[in-house]
Parts: sequence; C-alpha cells; structure tokens
Amino acid sequence: MIPPNNYKTNFDHYLQLYTQEEIDKVNARLKTPEDALRWAYETFGDKIAKASSFGPEDSVVTDMIIKINPKARFFTLDTGRLNQETYDVMDAIAKKYNINFEVMFPETAAVEEMVRTKGINLFYDSVENRKLCCEIRKVRPLNKILSTLDAWVTGLRRDQNENRSHAAMVELDHLHGGIVKVNPIIEWTWDQVLSYIKERNLPYNKLLDRGYTSIGCEPCTRAIKPGEDLRAGRWWWESDTHKECGLHMKH
Ligand code: ADX
Ligand code: SF4
Repeated sequence: MIPPNNYKTNFDHYLQLYTQEEIDKVNARLKTPEDALRWAYETFGDKIAKASSFGPEDSVVTDMIIKINPKARFFTLDTGRLNQETYDVMDAIAKKYNINFEVMFPETAAVEEMVRTKGINLFYDSVENRKLCCEIRKVRPLNKILSTLDAWVTGLRRDQNENRSHAAMVELDHLHGGIVKVNPIIEWTWDQVLSYIKERNLPYNKLLDRGYTSIGCEPCTRAIKPGEDLRAGRWWWESDTHKECGLHMKH
C-alpha cells in the first residue's frame, strides 16, 4: 500500500501560461544557455527556481544563473539518503555564491509508514519498491515546490538517456500542471560540462573524482566502470536501460 500523500498540490489547475506554438517560437529565438536563462529570469522573476542534485551539470548551470541573476532561487530535494560529498558541495556552492538553498524534505509520516511496512533498504527488493521510495522521497517533494512556481530550471542533457533525447531547451511541463521547464544545457556534451567546470575552477561534487558520473542517492548510485554508460551507476541492479525516478518522465 502506498502511504498517503498529504502534500497538497494545485496541479488540478492546469496553468497553460503558454501554448506549444508560443514555446516553439521562444525556442527558435534562443541560441545559447545564457539566452534561455536571461529570457527565463526576466519572464518569471521569483516564480522560477533551479533544481539542483549537485551533479556536475548543476555546478555549470548554477554558475550561469548567478551571473544573470544573483538573487535567483535554488532548491534541492533532500531524500535523506544522499552522500556526504553531495552535502559538502552544496555547502561550498552556497558559500561561494551566497545562496540559501530551499531544501525540500519528504513528508515524515509517509517515510515512517514506508520504512515500517517495507524495510529501510526496500529499493533493492523490487522495482515497485524502488519506485515507491523515489515517489515518496523525491517526486512528491518536487510536486510540492513546483505547484508554487511558474517555471523551473534543470541540468538535464539530451544525451543522458533515450527518454531525454527529444527534450528542448524550453518546454511545457505537462507532468507539472503545464509550467515551463528550462533546460539550458540540454544540447551540451559531457566534455563541455567538464571543461566549463575546469576552466572556471568551480566547486563540483567530489564523487566525480571517484567515477560517479551521475549523482543520486547513496544506496542507489555507484561509480561507473571504463566504457560504461554515464548513467549506468544509477539503480545499477535494475536491468531497464531507461531508468528514471519520476522527476523527468516522458509525457
Ligand atoms: S534523475 O531524475 O535521474 O534523478 P538526474 O540525476 O539525471 O535526474 O538530474 C537531472 C536534473 O534533475 C538535475 O540537474 C536537477 O535539475 C534535477 N534533479 C535531480 N535530482 C534532484 C534532486 N534530488 N533535487 C533537485 N533537483 C534534482
Ligand atoms: Fe529511494 Fe534510492 Fe530513489 Fe533515493 S534513489 S529516493 S534511496 S529509491
């Protein structure tokens, strides 16, 4: 049984700030990640926030955003199962850019019920359990904050997996009430991300130095081996190659 969702969201009211045609025109105009971010922050003011999981892509996009809007909002979904390295880079980024991260925690009662009935390491027992844990620890807290926003910014890249291969720089997020989703570095390669960080000596998650090319929760993420896909370390025991936790499902 799925523990109840007491997080109230207003996705019942589809926002429809833009039509798809209007979004297509915006996309056609915007050439660079900075163009997209300038448009987004001018358009949405304090009703837009950047989602950070503190992977290398988030280091890049955070640096770009601060140069455009030093007062921009940033949030993170703290599942309660993150690596210490992730908290360390969060702290380093907060201090460098003077950011007060809005940290979203899962609902206590839902976590307690889940752990009581399914066990503390339930995610290893079945895909269903893993998805339940992602639902409670990530998806619901994301829904909670997105239901208060008109737009959000991510560090998604198109070549991360098949599910993301058709994503655009600016999208209508039908999963979240039709708000706008801005993916400024959607076209970037992994090498571009690494170069941007290195050239500017940006704070980055030290798990990267240990072979973690995608950053998730500690029990569900491992380093990749040479030649493996960059996301192979996520939920590594599952066989599905399009693994997602539900934040960015195709719609
Ligand atoms: S996931 O859906 O598989 O977990 P991924 O790790 O690739 O996502 O990260 C892609 C983008 O999703 C990040 O750049 C960030 O914008 C957002 N994101 C993922 N996990 C979180 C999190 N825990 N908190 C906030 N944003 C997140
Ligand atoms: Fe739970 Fe693992 Fe999903 Fe984190 S990644 S929310 S620990 S199943």
